[in-house]
Amino acid sequence: MTAIGIHDIEVATGHHVVNLTELAEARGVDPNKYIKGLGQDEFSFPAPDEDVVTMGATAAHRLLERTGAEGIRTLLFATETGVDQSKSTAVFVHKLLDLPGEVRSIELKQACYSGTGALQAALGIIARNPGERVLVISSDIARYELDSPGEPTQGAGAVAMLVSADPALVEIEPASGVFSEDVDDFWRPNDSSTAVVDGGLSITAYLKSVEKAWKDLEQHGGPSISDVAAFVYHQPFTKMARKAQAHLAAFTGTELNDGALDTGSVYNRRMGNSYTASLYSALTSLLHHEDGLTGKRVGLVSYGSGSVAEILTGIVRADDATRRGFRDRVLGMLDSRVRLSVPEYEGMHEKAMPSAEDTETAAVTKSPFRFAGVRGRARHYERA
Ligand code: COA
Repeated sequence: MTAIGIHDIEVATGHHVVNLTELAEARGVDPNKYIKGLGQDEFSFPAPDEDVVTMGATAAHRLLERTGAEGIRTLLFATETGVDQSKSTAVFVHKLLDLPGEVRSIELKQACYSGTGALQAALGIIARNPGERVLVISSDIARYELDSPGEPTQGAGAVAMLVSADPALVEIEPASGVFSEDVDDFWRPNDSSTAVVDGGLSITAYLKSVEKAWKDLEQHGGPSISDVAAFVYHQPFTKMARKAQAHLAAFTGTELNDGALDTGSVYNRRMGNSYTASLYSALTSLLHHEDGLTGKRVGLVSYGSGSVAEILTGIVRADDATRRGFRDRVLGMLDSRVRLSVPEYEGMHEKAMPSAEDTETAAVTKSPFRFAGVRGRARHYERA
């Protein structure tokens, strides 16, 4: 059977950054609650001329500079932060990337899970047509109300993956474990730019889903847990990965690689939650920072509130030096974000509700693409 999986992967994030020690001080909270209790140091915050389309296009642009776009006939864009009720974010990105017309461009939604749904669809398309490649983009902006428990777990980021036969980076194995259950733990009504969340319920629903999805994986021919060298998790905050791994270890009675929780959360600690992109930025962080993984199996634990979960496994193909070689570019991108004071962030947070009224957007972003504004009630994007 042809090996199919992730040939290459890239991360992008927002223009601004908010420091969580400063936010804690402004909220009258011990900074250790955010830094140790939630496992977050900073979060990315988009400029007014950035959104999920510009972040997703930026990640994909950097990826395609390495791989080229040859063979791409499908562009799947996973997001919770869609910009239109009808037109898909994928169509905007298709234009920005100058892809040929002969491409199907689609958006997928299921809270933080849909990046994994998109990856599964990509694997299926390539199984039917091994000569094709699929561009999968996950991009989100996590927004909660000011001074709410969710506020320190905000963030923004995008991950682009090129999925192909005979992949250079990670081969995804055919067996997976899935679980769906209707739970009101987190959602975002159509008229709201911030999520409604029952934080406690979201944590218990996530843990239950991990257990159910792992058992489903076992029943569908998945590997023994002792044959998984490292797990990465969807990380609404990086401490959640620790909770999920502790749960997985306890109910399987196995000791798991806790060091990988650190190597798999370097980027997420600094970007914050990026919903659909969170698991895949964690995977990128693990691949860039965990040595000795080549030829070994990794587990990918995906959870999206509402809720859908899936656990996939993959075999790492790229060598340590190749994977490590991409680390400095991502760290440089995070270092170069422009810091917002808490009052500056609060002012921008208040204005962030998307508007359908005609407007021109001020040029701020240093990314290759920008949201230019709304004309005739239609969104317009351009090269920055
Ligand atoms: N030093 C170190 N740790 C501290 C601390 C301090 N001074 N003060 C609190 N903590 C710890 C708590 O013990 C807790 O850790 P634990 O969960 O391991 O016990 C952690 O910090 C968070 O404290 P808690 O009181 O539970 O925070 P909260 O009720 O204000 O909110 C969430 C936490 C996650 C519920 C909230 O951020 C949220 O709703 N986030 C959005 C939803 C989400 O991300 N859900 C995840 C599943 S998708």
